[in-house]
Amino acid sequence: MSKLTWPLMHNNITREDLDALIRYLATDSPKLTHGPKVLEFEMAWSNWLGVKYSVMVNSGSSANDLTMMALRELCGVGEVIVPPLTWVSDIASVVNTGHKPVFVDINPRNLAMQNFEVIKAITPKTKAVFLTHVLGYNGISDDLVSELKAREIPLIEDVCESHGATHNGQKLGSFGWASNFSFYYAHHLTTIEGGMVSTNDSELYDIIRMLRSHGMVRESLNTETTRRYLDSHKDLNPNFIFAFPSHNMRSTELNAILGLEQLGRLDNNNVKRSENLRIFLNNLDSERYQTDFEIKGSSNYAFTLVLKCPDMFLRDKIEKKLKDEGIEFRRGLSGGGNQLRQPYLRRLPDTPQAEIFQNVEHVHHYGWYIGNYPELPSEKIYYLCEMLNQI
Ligand SMILES: Cc1ncc(COP(=O)(O)O)c(C=O)c1O
Repeated sequence: MSKLTWPLMHNNITREDLDALIRYLATDSPKLTHGPKVLEFEMAWSNWLGVKYSVMVNSGSSANDLTMMALRELCGVGEVIVPPLTWVSDIASVVNTGHKPVFVDINPRNLAMQNFEVIKAITPKTKAVFLTHVLGYNGISDDLVSELKAREIPLIEDVCESHGATHNGQKLGSFGWASNFSFYYAHHLTTIEGGMVSTNDSELYDIIRMLRSHGMVRESLNTETTRRYLDSHKDLNPNFIFAFPSHNMRSTELNAILGLEQLGRLDNNNVKRSENLRIFLNNLDSERYQTDFEIKGSSNYAFTLVLKCPDMFLRDKIEKKLKDEGIEFRRGLSGGGNQLRQPYLRRLPDTPQAEIFQNVEHVHHYGWYIGNYPELPSEKIYYLCEMLNQI
């Protein structure tokens, strides 16, 4: 076979999506800024996910920022338990709101924090557990959910890489106090840039709506909240009461139209991606590569390739071969691997040593992800496995 064209991400925005935008733009004086289409998408998303409320934002990172700001407002500042394998904004949002990140190593089989280690890391100062479902795998267990519930510690789920994944048949993102999604171009569903915060908690919904929009009280849909602020701030113009120090993380109508279009295809696409992952893991040499990922309920948009044993020589050979074959990859899995090695964390006092977290260290050095999209032909996946097995 000649050199493959296998980019990390494939254009997930179809002609139909673009036509929907064009139809909207051709209407008489279409509203472009945040408006009814955003609300329509939020309701459709809540319905799909199985939660009561959703707030669309301009990125998954904004979703992270908002939940951490809301946590600070509602529960005060303290410790937040996070994984070292996640995206930068998960930890940045914790640090930037004055919380202390407390790190817990991952479970190699689902790449999320070891649930029993999370429970061990809880202290009286713990304000939340901020769990990332990495690359489509389910990161929660019944034990974790019930333990956190019993201790009244909010679970925040980062589902940015795992739209449609489930635990016991229930969608991830419907377990936590809050859940955050990204609709960046490469993800299961894309609005070009975009994100969502979803919740069943009406108080959180109310505050997230205000925080998304400069902390403005007029964004609240709760008449009691509005009345309270109006009554106690009679010196202020009711349109300009800023309850919290925030900024603007709103989406536009155009992004929401894309989301509405894409939502109709999401489940079918996820089925195809899951089948691709199954072929990939079933055909890799299990002596050399990790193939025992917990795929039950997973919804994956990238193949996870992890060496079973540390081997720098093999690692370099694999990277050279992938490059030569035109297969794009990222080493370190989610977010470039162990965040504790990153300068933004190393500059902070009290950051633990990266090497302590051995499971993350392993995927940091010996793990990659490769693009997995619905239209990937199975022959290409077989070819990739064959090639990797022969290196
Ligand atoms: C796990 C995770 N969280 C958060 C984000 C941030 O999302 P965004 O790129 O939309 O800001 C990403 C990005 O892809 C991610 O992978």
